[in-house]
Amino acid sequence: MVNDPVPLLLSRATELLEAEFGALPAFEATADLESVARVLQATAHRLGDNYPYFHPLYAGQMLKPPHAVARAAYALAMTVNPNNHARDGGRASSEMEIEAVSEIAGMFGWKDGAGSYLGHLTSSGTLANLEALWVAGQLAPGKRIVGSEQAHYTHQRISAVLKLEFTPIAADERGRMDLDALEAELRHGDVGTVVVTLGTTAIGAVDALDGVLKLKTRYGSRVHVDGAYGGYFRLIAEDRDEGSLDGAARRAYRATVDADSLVIDPHKHGLQPYGCGCVLFRDPAVGRFYKHDSPYTYFTSRQLHLGEISLECSRAGAAAVALWATHQLLPLTPGGEFARGLRSGRAAALELDRRLRNDGRFEVLAGAGPELDIVVWKVKAESAERASELAHKVFAACATRDLHLALVQLPQFWFEPGAEAGLVTCLRSVLMKPEHAVWMDRIWDRLSAACGEVLGV
Ligand SMILES: Cc1ncc(COP(=O)(O)O)c(C=O)c1O
Repeated sequence: MVNDPVPLLLSRATELLEAEFGALPAFEATADLESVARVLQATAHRLGDNYPYFHPLYAGQMLKPPHAVARAAYALAMTVNPNNHARDGGRASSEMEIEAVSEIAGMFGWKDGAGSYLGHLTSSGTLANLEALWVAGQLAPGKRIVGSEQAHYTHQRISAVLKLEFTPIAADERGRMDLDALEAELRHGDVGTVVVTLGTTAIGAVDALDGVLKLKTRYGSRVHVDGAYGGYFRLIAEDRDEGSLDGAARRAYRATVDADSLVIDPHKHGLQPYGCGCVLFRDPAVGRFYKHDSPYTYFTSRQLHLGEISLECSRAGAAAVALWATHQLLPLTPGGEFARGLRSGRAAALELDRRLRNDGRFEVLAGAGPELDIVVWKVKAESAERASELAHKVFAACATRDLHLALVQLPQFWFEPGAEAGLVTCLRSVLMKPEHAVWMDRIWDRLSAACGEVLGV
């Protein structure tokens, strides 16, 4: 945040935007600026009571700072405050949303063209997944939704809201949906949709989408991909050098082109402020489920209003403006700057995993290293209870050194094949920031010192 460029960028752009409306008669803004400034000072003070999410030493949960261009574009859009429900409320920003969504679709191999797909932004990954499972339920009423037990908990909750039964499928020791267990469920003949996660929340595991699509040809269920976290890694799936994705993950990402629906969160890895999810449907004909009349809107244009293909009504047009601007600066191209940022976070994760493996105080996943950019590890101890207790202590000792990690409960057999059933609390680090790689020595020194204090070694 030091030398934040956004205020300066914004003041220049704001002048230009005001000039766009320069033909209107001037009017007095009503705000009492002195009072506003006073309240803003108090606001800044209150906001100091946060973890420093923007800093490379914040390496805990899935929190990636929005890019300066996204923050500035979002704030700029606030002058107009467009509503992407209808073109009546957000003419330019609706167009920007359609363009931005088409770039995301293109990343998955879904090309633009008449009737090629349907998609829009949402307020969150939860809302995007809700729409995908709602459509799935319309297409197969009463049939079950199944997904890995490691799928985000939102799928169980959404299914309950939609009154659809959700069945969790066992995950293997690398946190990926077990395809034999999935096939056993599919054989019952009552599964409407399989949820495939590309990048699980806990450890960034990548379910075998290619394998699930093969099962689809045999059993006919719909396949929904939850790439809320990991979707953007599609951009590096063709890389073949050191640190690129492993073969299984690569095959899974390549298969996205054949999914029935896809969710991705620009507000996770896409450098966007919160309030930006995205859902895509392969078959645009599912738009019929959204069909409704509005007595209030849809008057100003015969073109598609995004509210006609979205369950949400009002939506922040600013989210679309910020995403569009980010794509102008950092196009979603393999090998481009945005893709290099993903590679950098992954390099940091591989490096942290390597250091942990070489340090006798820790245990890492027995199966293999991180599939994306999330690292998890256990503190070595004589029992799972003791390891969990120590993880909490190391977490707290790191925080006193300004290193912010996260905790996660994972099955013990992921660390020790054959271990008894049960969970152990582990440390977890989501290394999403491109800067994490160059900060790895400083991250490691703090982690190592914190462990020294807790373990005495
Ligand atoms: C894989 C996955 N799906 C869905 C979600 C829910 O997304 P949101 O928090 O944007 O509602 C998350 C959030 O972490 C996630 O990791």
